[in-house]
Amino acid sequence: MILLAIESSCDETAAALLEVAPHQELPTTLVLSDVVASQIEEHAPYGGVVPELASRRHLTAILPVIRRALAAAGRTLDDVEALAVTAGPGLVGSLLIGIQVAKAIAHAKHLPLVGVNHLAAHLLSSHLQRKAGPSPAPSFPYVGLVASGGHTALYAVWGMERFAQLATTRDDAAGEAFDKVGKLLGLPYPGGPAIDAAADGIEPGDLRFPRGLDRKDTLDFSFSGLKTAVADHLRARREPPDHDEVRRVAAAFQESVVASLVKKALLACQRLDIPRLTLGGGVAANGGLRRSMAEACRAAGVELFLPARSDCTDNAAMVGLAAVPRLRRGEEDGGSLGARSSWPIG
Ligand code: KG4
Ligand code: ZN
Repeated sequence: MILLAIESSCDETAAALLEVAPHQELPTTLVLSDVVASQIEEHAPYGGVVPELASRRHLTAILPVIRRALAAAGRTLDDVEALAVTAGPGLVGSLLIGIQVAKAIAHAKHLPLVGVNHLAAHLLSSHLQRKAGPSPAPSFPYVGLVASGGHTALYAVWGMERFAQLATTRDDAAGEAFDKVGKLLGLPYPGGPAIDAAADGIEPGDLRFPRGLDRKDTLDFSFSGLKTAVADHLRARREPPDHDEVRRVAAAFQESVVASLVKKALLACQRLDIPRLTLGGGVAANGGLRRSMAEACRAAGVELFLPARSDCTDNAAMVGLAAVPRLRRGEEDGGSLGARSSWPIG
């Protein structure tokens, strides 16, 4: 089955073509093409995603992105046999662009269309396969950490469609904290990759910021106190931070976020007695997090499945993958599919 997947839940317009092998328990799903058009430049002057701007940009980007995905796979729309689109959670105006285009193609070509939960897609992204032949993917159950701009949560992933939320953030998402602190430090938007680069190879020395809910008997996260601590630290200085101080603060902030994510993720594996962990969401692209998580997992005997960095940030390939079980059962949402700003799983 050739599957066209579309993602437009936030500020990336993405389309992917996947080849899905029939009747497999785990989807033997090959990514034929994967195109992402970023809107970073449009939103950068505002220091965050402007929803109205995002939907207008999706509108102009979506058809060229789909055409590029088809061309990169050497296919045409006539080869497509099914459609998947992110239906939530996300910005409703943005989601609706992807949904309407997917509906129009499904209607015109008489193809099945299913709506996909964006969080489920992030949790399954370690199963993406880019070349024929076996590639390492976690067996079920595993613990999944999603850390993105809108969400930071831990899940038990029991199967491709069975998730149980174990913990979430009580305030800001990790990516949101990266973006806000990036702004405080005068770094370019988005703060996540900018802080990652600024912190690279830097030892923060004795500068240490608090770790939210560190000693509490909970798997939940908290990042707003950390952001305030960084703001207070910067305010207490007489002059704006110079280059070295920016890098030192970035490193200390990142260390604090990473320490929380690593500690709680491993605690979840331990509590559930599940020695397998995956990461997803934009923050999972963070170099410091990937290094620390790998070290901690090795020490704890937990097998870590790290998707490629480009599979951590928003993309349509993961959306197609998450749609496979329903499409295989012959299910479809068709014309009744709507956008959901909030859509908890598990
Ligand atoms: O998953 P994603 O692409 O979109 C959402 O679903 O939110 O995540 C975007 C978030 C942004 O907050 C961005 O700053 C953060 O992920 N991010 C990073 C890195 N790359 C993206 N955070 C830390 N380090 C990175 N390398
Ligand atoms: Zn995302």
